[in-house]
Amino acid sequence: MKGKITIAIDGFSSCGKSTLAKALARALNYKYIDSGAMYRAVTLYALDKGIIKDGHFDHDFLVHALPDITIDFHFNPKNQKSETLLNGVNVEDKIRLGEISSLVSPISAVKEVRTKLVELQRSYDEHKGLVMDGRDIGTNVFPKAELKIFMTADPEVRAMRRFEELTAKGYHTTMVDVRTNLAERDHIDSTRVDNPLTRAEDAIILDNTDLSPEEQLEFALDLAKSRMNL
Ligand code: DC
Repeated sequence: MKGKITIAIDGFSSCGKSTLAKALARALNYKYIDSGAMYRAVTLYALDKGIIKDGHFDHDFLVHALPDITIDFHFNPKNQKSETLLNGVNVEDKIRLGEISSLVSPISAVKEVRTKLVELQRSYDEHKGLVMDGRDIGTNVFPKAELKIFMTADPEVRAMRRFEELTAKGYHTTMVDVRTNLAERDHIDSTRVDNPLTRAEDAIILDNTDLSPEEQLEFALDLAKSRMNL
């Protein structure tokens, strides 16, 4: 047996990355880190501090403020969920709001933001036994991860899943808005200069358009076990 491994899950927005990553971490008793939550937390900070105004952000102001931002995760035993802390405050719900989703991609394209967050992301892998999802985990954060999965799904299926998730949480939105936001984020995330969303050459593609969460977990668990030589 090889022991614990690092698992990188990348892919487009609303492809079910976090659902699979959480299930995989639970099944393997691994740590789960949502790297997108970190970019969302920086975006929330920028919004609260007036660094983002009328949909535009002040680049220099943002870079100057970065040392004042701390991001952490804690496990809430009451709801059995990992929650994101921004400067010690639980912002898990706030960072999922549509306003943050529509502002996060330009913020995550800022080189200095990425440098800070990638360093933090790498610090979670000290003892392996980690599942992390994002856009550049297999290509940049952990290029030596033992297992890399690149998730994709039909754009219309992704939009419908996202729409249903938001409406189930009580947020008012439309399919048109959801489609537009996903298309914009896909474009910015995959065309930015620093560490754009691309599939690592050694990543296994998982198209989950027609797969249930259970089928995806089985697929990923089989791969993980084979990489652990189990
Ligand atoms: O996974 P998510 O939708 O919560 O991610 C929010 C944004 O953060 C996404 O639009 C792109 C950015 N992101 C990134 O650039 N690199 C990552 N590793 C994770 C997310």
